[in-house]
Amino acid sequence: MAIKITILGLLAMSLSLVLASDLSPLQDFCVADPTIQVHVNGIACKDPKIVGANDFTFSGLHIAGNTSNPIGSSVTPVTVFQLPGLNTLGISLVRIDYAPWGTNPPHTHPRASEILTVLEGSLEVGFVTSSPENRHITKVLKKGDVFAFPIGLVHYQRNAGSGNAVAIAALSSQNPGVITVANAVFGSVPNISSNVLSRAFQLDKGVVNYLQTQF
Ligand SMILES: *[C@@H]1O[C@H](CO)[C@@H](O)[C@H](O)[C@H]1NC(C)=O
Ligand SMILES: *[C@@H]1O[C@H](CO)[C@@H](O)[C@H](O)[C@H]1NC(C)=O
Repeated sequence: MAIKITILGLLAMSLSLVLASDLSPLQDFCVADPTIQVHVNGIACKDPKIVGANDFTFSGLHIAGNTSNPIGSSVTPVTVFQLPGLNTLGISLVRIDYAPWGTNPPHTHPRASEILTVLEGSLEVGFVTSSPENRHITKVLKKGDVFAFPIGLVHYQRNAGSGNAVAIAALSSQNPGVITVANAVFGSVPNISSNVLSRAFQLDKGVVNYLQTQF
């Protein structure tokens, strides 16, 4: 009985792991057709007979993002919303630009692991584990280095050099999603009560109210 329960438990765990990422496609491709309103865990498919090379193409990743913003970084996404041929394929790409000392602030992708490579400059990167709880794994990367961020974990990058930095990252979902910690916590609409946030962050309510005006 105990063994059966263990096997069932393992099965349930492996099923939940499988279901937590993009499903394997059941056809060669399914180019997204956003005009069709019926969605089945993805976007409906364009008729494969009228699909062409442009459905699998995105142009413009050579163009630097605009980093003139408070965080000094900019993400240019190439997900299913920019490249419809990615629908059902379980992958996507982003270009990230960093001004000197620019930061891609702590965030998590609910549906994807990420593999990042530095094209220009140097990046301080890190993520925080859930087991053991809150262990911080961090490293300074130089041009050509590759670093992996496991699915769901809070991670960040910061430009550690004196010039601009550029990275390309691939993600294991056509629609990885992003939850930026500060924005989710202090910038939600409607806002989370400052009673909750002042307890959670051990901050004075005035500080919480100030932070809520920043996001
Ligand atoms: C970059 O963004 C800033 C702030 O939004 C804006 O003022 C500026 O015109 C933008 N620069 C370019 C080249 O688009
Ligand atoms: C948070 O929401 C409450 C209730 O809607 C509102 O009274 C308060 O002004 C909001 N606080 C901030 C900082 O936006």
